[in-house]
Amino acid sequence: MNELQFKRHRRLRQSANMRALVRETILNVNDFIYPIFAVEGENIKQEVSSMPGVYQFSLDRLQEEMDEVVSLGIKSVLLFGIPDHKDAVGTEAYHSHGIVQEATRFIKQHYPDVLVVADTCLCEYTDHGHCGVIEGEKVLNDASLDLLVKTAVSQAEAGADIIAPSNMMDGFVVAIRKGLDEAGFEDVPIMSYAVKYASAFYGPFRDAADSAPQFGDRKSYQMDPANRLEALREAESDVEEGADFLIVKPTLSYLDIVRDVRNEFRLPVVGYNVSGEYSLVKAAALNGWVDEKTIVLEMLTSMKRAGCDLIITYFAKDVARWISNSD
Ligand code: PBG
Ligand code: ZN
Repeated sequence: MNELQFKRHRRLRQSANMRALVRETILNVNDFIYPIFAVEGENIKQEVSSMPGVYQFSLDRLQEEMDEVVSLGIKSVLLFGIPDHKDAVGTEAYHSHGIVQEATRFIKQHYPDVLVVADTCLCEYTDHGHCGVIEGEKVLNDASLDLLVKTAVSQAEAGADIIAPSNMMDGFVVAIRKGLDEAGFEDVPIMSYAVKYASAFYGPFRDAADSAPQFGDRKSYQMDPANRLEALREAESDVEEGADFLIVKPTLSYLDIVRDVRNEFRLPVVGYNVSGEYSLVKAAALNGWVDEKTIVLEMLTSMKRAGCDLIITYFAKDVARWISNSD
């Protein structure tokens, strides 16, 4: 008779195969969305200084990136545009030949199976850098909705498979849903940035997309990082308004929010592993302070474990490489 009272948890950890047998969370390349920055101009492949390994591409150089993405088995990309001309109302965001619209056409023509997710916002296109139109220093809600709807419809017209509005104006989901339906795009889903915090983790992205606000900050439309219940209110309204996916952003410092949203709603939950989360790891890895592969896989696994069904990540290509020849 064994008199020991303790449990032998280590039984299930004793070999690689035993550990694989009981592993609860597995990363799958199907679940990754890779962000791409398309810039107006020619022959541009410009590394983003604060994001080593991430580039802005002009359309004539996009092919090399897309070939790699496809060869690694990545099936979805998220498009951001950097236009030549900015103005107060973000005209280039909803121009039928704007940079995202043209990049979408290019990808759908040459890689028809790849899902193109279009970021729907104005901040890369406005000279003041805010996600909506302004009056004085105020970011106007309802006036911005009209322009966001125009942006979404022009992206769908260019062939975007999914519309991803990141602007955080109230009512953007219902406005865009209505606009898409009226234009005949009932089948184009909305991946809503439902829960988006006013975060310092977006710093490197604003270099990449040239989208930093020229005055003030985004705290009057993005959420206070201290709030948890508010995240559920934001997600709830987007569900009611007709969202098809719910994004939580950033992810790493907000895994509790991911779990809350996963438990509360029935839509696919998307974690956006944002630029600052990428750059922190890259900087440390380039210094030899952390092991990049192990730390990235651990971070992304924690996101899935917390409840992310999908993950938008600048690490998608690396991870696709690592998991295709892992043991
Ligand atoms: C713009 C937008 C931002 C991100 C995605 N869309 C930045 C912001 O709100 O300032 C952040 C992405 C990242 O940091 O990787 N609305
Ligand atoms: Zn924006």
